[in-house]
Amino acid sequence: MCGIIGYLGSREAQPVLLSGLKRLEYRGYDSAGITVLSDGEIRTEKMAGKISDLEEKLMGSPVSGSVGIGHTRWATHGKPDNANAHPHTGCNDRYSLVHNGIVENYRELKSDLEAKGHKFNSETDTEVIVHLIGEQSGSLEEKVRAALESVEGTFAVAVVYSEEPRKIVGARRGSPLIVGTADGDRFLASDIPAVLEYTRDVIYLEDNEMVLLTDSAVEITDLQGQPADKEVRHIDWNPVAARKEGYKHFMLKEIHEQPQAVSDTFRSRRFKGGGLTWDEGELAAKVVNDADKLFIVACGTSAYASRVAKYLWEDFLDLPIEVELGSEFRYRNPPLDDSSLVVGVSQSGETADTLAGLEKARDAGSTIVSVPNVLGSTITRRSDAVLYTHAGPEIGVASTKAFTAQLTALSVLGLEIGRMRGSISDSTAREMASVLEGAPQMVQEQLDNEDKVAELAEKFYEKEHFLFLGRDILYPIAMEGALKLKEISYIHAEGYPAGELKHGPIALIDERMPVVALITKNSVYDKVFSNIEEVRARKGKVIVLTDDLGGEVEGIADELVPLPRTEKLLTPLVFTIPLQLLAYHIGVLRGTDVDQPRNLAKSVTVE
Ligand code: AGP
Repeated sequence: MCGIIGYLGSREAQPVLLSGLKRLEYRGYDSAGITVLSDGEIRTEKMAGKISDLEEKLMGSPVSGSVGIGHTRWATHGKPDNANAHPHTGCNDRYSLVHNGIVENYRELKSDLEAKGHKFNSETDTEVIVHLIGEQSGSLEEKVRAALESVEGTFAVAVVYSEEPRKIVGARRGSPLIVGTADGDRFLASDIPAVLEYTRDVIYLEDNEMVLLTDSAVEITDLQGQPADKEVRHIDWNPVAARKEGYKHFMLKEIHEQPQAVSDTFRSRRFKGGGLTWDEGELAAKVVNDADKLFIVACGTSAYASRVAKYLWEDFLDLPIEVELGSEFRYRNPPLDDSSLVVGVSQSGETADTLAGLEKARDAGSTIVSVPNVLGSTITRRSDAVLYTHAGPEIGVASTKAFTAQLTALSVLGLEIGRMRGSISDSTAREMASVLEGAPQMVQEQLDNEDKVAELAEKFYEKEHFLFLGRDILYPIAMEGALKLKEISYIHAEGYPAGELKHGPIALIDERMPVVALITKNSVYDKVFSNIEEVRARKGKVIVLTDDLGGEVEGIADELVPLPRTEKLLTPLVFTIPLQLLAYHIGVLRGTDVDQPRNLAKSVTVE
């Protein structure tokens, strides 16, 4: 997720672009840059680092001009350095472009363009777009339209051209883009906060729409050039609320960003002829085939995503799989050697215990694959291959969209390892991975039921203890649900394998103890059904989350959260959403600092 901005009007563009980028910094902050059209020339200043670093650099040599574009980056392809920073220029610096999104077919496009003599200056997927535009003919808007026809994936772009200096062209598919207008000023931005200082009148572009900004007009069309009828919306948010896009907390905003996070994480994994596209490095076939054991090392929520992966992978991987907490693994003597495959899962890529566990594995000659969300984070430099989640910056301390993005990435990773080992065929891997196409919609449908979960929170927010029960693939989800609740609301909550209830925890059950039971129509349905009856026999209140709609379990639920029946690969995603929302709404009702709960840090870089 990146932040883009464009300005055309009578003001000096540089200060407008920089102030707008600062308000978009929460969308990404590993590099920044601007282009300003100055005396008919494209002048570009960009660098790795924060926007304040760029601003300091520009203080010494400001760029004068009243048309420009800017970008603050959350890197997805290519490490965060000066060359990979946006804007990207092309064709003798006559074009400049900023982009938020993922060009899925950039490798094919890049090799075609290189064959035509184009020289590339970066490792990014974005740069192919500006060279594609340079290949076209006609007006700038006609060139952009033609170029985007070849692009597969997602984009929000803003483009300028030195030979048509009083124009900015913008377009979007799968990434947000808004237009702001105020008298003669025209603005383009990823998000409302960037323009609020200048205007509250905005137009939201929809997918496959584009806009031409000139001094005399704002022309919005579809990508075929047909005019689009758009309404101007008046925004009354204050700037702080705007960074949360109107949500009360970053956590709630990020819970609602999950369809996009899951979609972006899946879309960027092209099964090119059956194989996975690695973000960095790669996994040698021999290593995968010679592996005789597999470890997944993680902490906290990432460890629960890893446990889900174990249940999924055991269905098609012919390898013993151990999920290890970094804080334990690093001090034990696990049977690591050069036949071990070790996966590190970490949103921040900086968790000390996880990194130490991977270090131990490297020292033993094991092969390391990491699944981080932050590009260029430390874990990537400890890995032989990297598969990023594309959740974008996760500001809330409680991990939500990163978790569902991890579930997505780990599903794909397991299928790739199985395919490479031959324990599943290419076609089966592709077929199973294609199930994930439906994940964003499934997640969205659970988000649409937020009100029902909020009502549930009203009934239970004063409770002091909760038990979360699940079996099989829902056992780690029960653990994650308990973690979300305890770290957000400070209520004591435990996630437990339902089958263990009789071995002690059942002593806790009474009318004061709400029990959240996760039950899906699988091989252990009857077992969980019996566990729910055991709880009710002891006056425990049972909140049942189930996909057995109309089934007998509804008759034994004190509270029911109905969920859609789906493939096993999607079940954890579907069951997680109401648990995140329950934790969030209970936390809000209890008045805790939901985005920054007491005692917690977003990234635990210490032991
Ligand atoms: C989860 O909501 C917490 N923020 C915490 O458990 C977190 O998942 C854990 O610290 C691991 O962080 P990482 O994914 O950045 O390694």
